[in-house]
Amino acid sequence: MANVCVVVGGGSGIGLAAAKCMPKDKIIVISGRTLKKLEGAIEELKALGYEAYAKTCDTSDRESVRELALYAASLGSVKNVINSAGVSPAMKGTQEGILRINALGTVYVNQEFSKVMEAGSVIVDVASNSAYVLPSFLINKKVYALAETDEALFLKKLVKKSNLAKGEYQRKGFAYSLSKNFVVWYAQKCAFEYGKNGIRVVSLSPGLIATDMGNLEKEEGGMLIPFSAEERMGKPEELGFALATVADERNGYLAGVDVLCDGGSTNGMKCFKKKRK
Ligand SMILES: NC(=O)c1ccc[n+]([C@@H]2O[C@H](COP(=O)([O-])OP(=O)(O)OC[C@H]3O[C@@H](n4cnc5c(N)ncnc54)[C@H](OP(=O)(O)O)[C@@H]3O)[C@@H](O)[C@H]2O)c1
Repeated sequence: MANVCVVVGGGSGIGLAAAKCMPKDKIIVISGRTLKKLEGAIEELKALGYEAYAKTCDTSDRESVRELALYAASLGSVKNVINSAGVSPAMKGTQEGILRINALGTVYVNQEFSKVMEAGSVIVDVASNSAYVLPSFLINKKVYALAETDEALFLKKLVKKSNLAKGEYQRKGFAYSLSKNFVVWYAQKCAFEYGKNGIRVVSLSPGLIATDMGNLEKEEGGMLIPFSAEERMGKPEELGFALATVADERNGYLAGVDVLCDGGSTNGMKCFKKKRK
């Protein structure tokens, strides 16, 4: 049976870069909301010698994610799922919209794919180093647990927390950071639940990366760059390689942690206090 790698949010950016680093003996399924974008990505992958398929999916809709998981499983054994789907504060949309896609979308992807995956497979959820910048009083694991039991209350409580920020961008920024802090927590929760079935779960937190999203956030989100080791943004291909490595079955003992791939900026800010230029 063929082995299948699914990249959700793989039509562009970090997700597409990760797909290009996967072994060519795998069938690649690329997913996202915009068919045209997916078709362009498939052309690129085919030109590189991959067998690749596009399937539209909106991760904020559980049924859509279920269909994607069943489609991928119909092609072969689903070995790797990389969930790179996400939206950021500078994009159109609301605080609730950000939380629905980034946070609840991760719940749907992990839950629906874990039903079709077998021992020796891996889920990598893409978080963000913005997960690490929140004041600790905003982080409440009991509220996070509501994502699986009472979605409406989960969203209401997190939107309320994000409203503590001043200004529209900052409120969406708080919603984004909360959604990604949730992703880090949820991937760890899943690692210990699915581990008994041999499914490994890890999250990976990029710093500011020069994708369409990263460039959109550069002005407001670039404040951590001077704290990074090389004082620069990351390149999509660097993150793609990091994701593909974490998602590789040979990396079998990496589970239940967040891989902070941000050029050292979080650590630089918290521990080494490099001065801004
Ligand atoms: N770039 C950065 O600086 C940075 C930093 C930290 C974390 N991240 C995270 O890295 C991930 C990838 O971001 P990127 O920089 O590669 O940006 P990107 O190029 O915009 O990639 C995000 C992808 O997710 C898809 N997507 C968005 N909403 C979706 C939904 N509801 N259902 C399915 N797919 C959806 C988008 O396609 P459609 O719009 O067509 O659906 C897009 O292809 C995101 O989770 C992001 O939060 C990025």
